[in-house]
Amino acid sequence: MVFIVKKKINGKDYYYLRQSIRKKGKVVSKCLAYLGKTRNEAERKAKEIIGNMKKNQTLLSKNLNSNKIDSENKKDNNRTNDKTSKPKELNFKQVKISVEDIASFCKRKGFVYQSAEIYGGFSGFWDFGNLGVELKNNIKKEWWRYHVFSRQDIQGIDGSIITHPKVWKASGHVDNFSDVFVVCKKCKKPGKVDKSEIGKVKCPHCNGEYDFENAKEFMLMFKTTVGEDETAYLRPETAQLIFINFKSVFENCRGKLPFGIAQVGKAFRNEIAPRDFLFRSREFEQMEIEYFIAPKQKCPYEIPDEEILVYSAEMQEKNQKPVKMKFKDALDKGIFKKDWHAYWLAIEFLWFKNLGVNPDNFRIRQHKKDELAHYSSDCWDLEYKFPFGWKELEGIADRSNYDLSQHEKFSKKDLRIFDEKTKQKILPEVICEPSLGVERTFLVFLFDSYSKNEKGDVVLRLHPKIAPIKAAVFPIVKKPEFEELAEKVFKELKKEWNVVYDKAGSIGRRYARNDEIGTPFCITIDGDSIKNNDVTIRERDSTKQIRVKISELKEILRKLINQEISFEKAGKKI
Ligand code: GAP
Repeated sequence: MVFIVKKKINGKDYYYLRQSIRKKGKVVSKCLAYLGKTRNEAERKAKEIIGNMKKNQTLLSKNLNSNKIDSENKKDNNRTNDKTSKPKELNFKQVKISVEDIASFCKRKGFVYQSAEIYGGFSGFWDFGNLGVELKNNIKKEWWRYHVFSRQDIQGIDGSIITHPKVWKASGHVDNFSDVFVVCKKCKKPGKVDKSEIGKVKCPHCNGEYDFENAKEFMLMFKTTVGEDETAYLRPETAQLIFINFKSVFENCRGKLPFGIAQVGKAFRNEIAPRDFLFRSREFEQMEIEYFIAPKQKCPYEIPDEEILVYSAEMQEKNQKPVKMKFKDALDKGIFKKDWHAYWLAIEFLWFKNLGVNPDNFRIRQHKKDELAHYSSDCWDLEYKFPFGWKELEGIADRSNYDLSQHEKFSKKDLRIFDEKTKQKILPEVICEPSLGVERTFLVFLFDSYSKNEKGDVVLRLHPKIAPIKAAVFPIVKKPEFEELAEKVFKELKKEWNVVYDKAGSIGRRYARNDEIGTPFCITIDGDSIKNNDVTIRERDSTKQIRVKISELKEILRKLINQEISFEKAGKKI
């Protein structure tokens, strides 16, 4: 039996979902979920959870009866192109969760807090907790590994956040990087519109007229003062630091075109209306590449054989639906103007796919002419199906030589480089600028991995490479010989990974606690471990267990995290 209970804590009401079951003649009751602070919210969430439990139950009994993998799980098994055999995942269900609920999950579990909450919060600013910082760091590390370490044509830099104000004059941000702030005459809600929309659009909330007469232009860059009175700006994109350092980096690396420079770092935008949790913030991080080529240079790389929903500007203008096709075919059909866009979009999509996301939640959309930024002649976004709609996750713009020529003009410096092939000095073009927000990526991994098992417990099925905690170590019972050995194993693993030690509660409870925050492996020291110097490893996604020697544990764990070995082949099956 499942029911809602209200608890009063410090004078405030909190609602929970509890379940009572009869076990060996006794009624055992356990808390299934926190439901919020109001009766209405609690009833809505309870309905959703009970619905999911029922669906999971049906799914489970179907699986048990037919012993077949249902279509849902077929989809799950196709989620990665990893060659290692994945265990059957019969009992999981990806759960659709609202942005409000993911925000509350993140707060409860220590991923993300509203910044300065004790002072009432600060809109558009977020603080990352002990799990959030690990997930964020792992995302950045994996991005760097894929884009910089594993390629020969890309090098990294780390530029300053506040730089010479002329950089932003030259880039066009001082003159163009603004929104127009308006208030609806009818519902009085504030809104932002693009300059091109003045006089043309209505309030999206009530369809009322905007008060365009009193519209105010709103500069999106944050101003600050350097020294006594010099005005400077916090960078609104990391890209400009790449342009102003391009020539030095290229020459120091003895670069050859095509050549990319990568950077990961903070960017700041004074957004009029920050919203959707981390999605639109005022302080965020970008992972950007400026990819330089000689004018008209063709793409020498093979385009990955992947397919995705494609939504060109023409399809949008003709009110057509996006079409699923291979990147290569879209190029052959002339949907991409240049081979480079097909290549970079496929490479970026593949990064997400290799980290285990559901490819069906991705599509690429070309900017219509009136959407293009002032520096861009063509731009495609990699979009994700967020709970609040298809939204930009990553922009990939063709910036031509706009930025380098602007900086030449404003600095009066020659930014051309010597091209070995043509034996001439040339000003390279940025053919593609893959620009991805860390926070949006963070959201994608959370939404995509948020699942429930057949008991209705949350399991965050993050790829082991990005999971905040790689393993949890448990002594099976609280006895000195078990605890001593468990602590020894824990300390050894801790030298290399973020690992936790947990001896509180039943083993089942400890598994559930770790499943909920995405820990891929749980290591237990049991009675046999004391005799044989070995441990059990339990895999989050299959809940299967293997036994391995402690002397081999580190090497096996490394292979499991990197998915270089299948779980079942990593040790002796239990
Ligand atoms: N250098 C190009 C550039 O900055 P952009 O489309 O303005 O292009 C690139 O931003 C990416 O940065 C976006 O696709 C998004 O992932 C992230 N981003 C932009 N504004 C953001 C905001 N206010 N909050 C969170 N992420 C943001």
